[in-house]
Amino acid sequence: MLILPMWLFIILLALRIHSVHPSKCPKFCICDNIQLTVACVNKNLTEVPPTINEITVKLDLKGNDLQELPTGAFSHTPYLTHLSLQKSNIRKVKEGAFRRLGRLVLLNLANNNIEILYQESFDGLTSLKQLLIDRNRVEEIQPGAFSQLGFLNLLSITHNQLVYLPNLAFQGLQNINWLRLSHNSLNYLATEAFAGLFTLTRLSLDNNALQFFPTETMTRLPEVTRLDLGYNPMNYLGEESVSMPKLTHLFLDYNSLQDFSNAAVLLCPSLTHLDLSHNQLRVLQPMAPGSPKLTRLNLASNPIYCSCYMRPLREWALRERIRLGGTCAGPAHLSGENLGAVQPADLRCQSQEAMLRAELEELSRLPTLPTTPPPDKVKCPANCDCEALNHHSSCENKGHTKIPRGFAPSTRLLDLRDNHFHYIPANSFPGTGVVVSLHLQRCKIHDIEDGAFNDMKSLVYLYLSENDLTSLSPEAFKGLPKLTYLHLEKNRFTQFPKGAFKPLLCLLALHMENNVITKLEAGLLTGAEKLRGLYLTSNAITTIAPKAFDPAPDLETLHLGNNKLKEVPSEAFSKAKSLAELNLSRNPIRWIGAGVFQPVAATLKHLYLDHMGLEKMSRESLAGLGSGLQSLFLEGNQLEELPDLSPLSGLEVVNLAENPLLCDCPLLPLRKWIEQVNLRVRAACGYPPELRGQGVKDVHVFKSCPGEKPPPTQNPKISKPTKRTESAQLSPSKVKGQPRKTAKPQLVQKNTNKKRKSV
Ligand SMILES: *[C@@H]1O[C@H](CO)[C@@H](O)[C@H](O)[C@H]1NC(C)=O
Ligand SMILES: *[C@@H]1O[C@H](CO)[C@@H](O)[C@H](O)[C@H]1NC(C)=O
Repeated sequence: MLILPMWLFIILLALRIHSVHPSKCPKFCICDNIQLTVACVNKNLTEVPPTINEITVKLDLKGNDLQELPTGAFSHTPYLTHLSLQKSNIRKVKEGAFRRLGRLVLLNLANNNIEILYQESFDGLTSLKQLLIDRNRVEEIQPGAFSQLGFLNLLSITHNQLVYLPNLAFQGLQNINWLRLSHNSLNYLATEAFAGLFTLTRLSLDNNALQFFPTETMTRLPEVTRLDLGYNPMNYLGEESVSMPKLTHLFLDYNSLQDFSNAAVLLCPSLTHLDLSHNQLRVLQPMAPGSPKLTRLNLASNPIYCSCYMRPLREWALRERIRLGGTCAGPAHLSGENLGAVQPADLRCQSQEAMLRAELEELSRLPTLPTTPPPDKVKCPANCDCEALNHHSSCENKGHTKIPRGFAPSTRLLDLRDNHFHYIPANSFPGTGVVVSLHLQRCKIHDIEDGAFNDMKSLVYLYLSENDLTSLSPEAFKGLPKLTYLHLEKNRFTQFPKGAFKPLLCLLALHMENNVITKLEAGLLTGAEKLRGLYLTSNAITTIAPKAFDPAPDLETLHLGNNKLKEVPSEAFSKAKSLAELNLSRNPIRWIGAGVFQPVAATLKHLYLDHMGLEKMSRESLAGLGSGLQSLFLEGNQLEELPDLSPLSGLEVVNLAENPLLCDCPLLPLRKWIEQVNLRVRAACGYPPELRGQGVKDVHVFKSCPGEKPPPTQNPKISKPTKRTESAQLSPSKVKGQPRKTAKPQLVQKNTNKKRKSV
């Protein structure tokens, strides 16, 4: 009799648990509903389980059989921060596979069979910090593959099948620190392969097939401190091969170096560690005067012949206190002796004859002989310098008045800056079909004839900054099908050169800063429909016509700072459906009305409204902006009040400093918001006078305000009453059940004055 109720009890209990925690744990998976993790490991699953709980934060799908990740493969789990997909037989990642994973921080795709990284493979991963694609079969990186990964710190593509890196391969990685490309088959790096990586500090290129030091390519990396080129087949490094201002550690171990110029690292002022171990060096000169102050020079496992020819190096090392690694390979009586221990006096040469004999003997014992001398100079016009090795030709500041002709057809970079050309006639650059980068800064150019750049069918970068241009004919840039970056800043344009950009089918970034343009007319960018960045800072723009940016479907970055705008040119953006960064700082805008950002609210991520003398923002001024906005800059204005910022649930940086906020009850919503967000918000009271300078968070005036209650304990964001329901409804996180706090990535304030790097 007792047994039946017991069964019943258990069944009831089970039912109860079931109804309280509606378990969505898919078959074959292990779910932890507290930590919000789901693991479906080594199950040979052929698709991502469709019933994973929406609020999952960590998903582990290692060891399955997924083959292909379709578009939107994870769109039903938008709160993921960690996603593991190793060893899952993935061959193909379709465009937009990770779309909606805007909170993902780590993505691990190692040990799969991916061959191509498509242009939009990683779209939507706007918070991603680490991307691991090691041990796949990647042989191609399509341009723009990483263009949306603006927060990525680490990109690792080791043990793949890359043979060459095209220009702009890593474009868009604005916060990258470490790029790992070890264990590929790289033998060619295009000159602009690393262009745009302004924050990269560490680059690993060891275990590749590089035959010479990619000098020009490396100069695009101003912040790199560690460069690993071990295990490559380089056999010599010439004068000034390495020109990297911040480099401290250079690894060239396990190459085939037979010669290392004493001026090779002359242009690396910060270098302290140089590793030349495991090469074929027999002798090394002291570094040329003006070379960096090394502390460590590793020559281990080189066939160093410790004769009088090594004495200068030894003396130099003693004098400069450089730790020398390695041992003598000969002559016999010094063989095996540590280089750091031999006394200079012991480094002797016998009679010329004996020396020669000894050396010949030595040589006959060595497997390889120095064979490849540095290539000779190439074809080069008078009064210019051309280098064969890096395809770089320069006639910089040589007083030329006509564009020189007769460059080697292999020239990739042409530097003509600081001459006196005054104008550029048609067909000025014959035979320059592979030039990628052309420098014409400060050449007093006031006119460009139609077809001036005909023939430059590979040109990607054109620098015409700091000239005297006032206008451009529609045919001036004819014949530049690949031009991507155009620099026209610091000229004398009074009008936007409408129509001139029509032939530039690939134009992504247009720099027109520091001109004297006063107005922007409708249809400004006709023809330049692919444009992603338009830079108009520091002109004299007073008016922007409605529809000015009309056909600009891809425009992401628009800089209008330091102009003379009196209002937000809202109507001009009506068709700028991709705008993510808008800079209006330092315009005399005193007032911001309702809904002005509505046309771009869906895409806007970074909004700069600082130092404008802004006095008032309508309560609805930010209407439409929701969880997509990542940074908001309002510092240095005259604001006493602020609109409700709580719909901006995705903010990572906010700066409200230097505003005379009126610390009284109307500011209570701001105060509550500051208490609740996981951000360091700089906001100080300006009024009343007795509170001036104190943090809004620290003052006690709000205690007596109506509506102030003891801090709510659960889910404050949702339970908080809000008067302005319209804008609250626009925040998607409030419509759907918001996941637990842990579901959000850690929000830490970045340096609020951080300069964002442009494309
Ligand atoms: C997955 O497939 C492999 C090879 O076909 C097999 O050995 C293994 O048992 C399978 N694992 C599961 C969990 O089905
Ligand atoms: C925004 O524009 C101002 C000039 O008005 C400039 O000082 C600032 O650096 C710009 N911000 C970014 C992120 O480019």
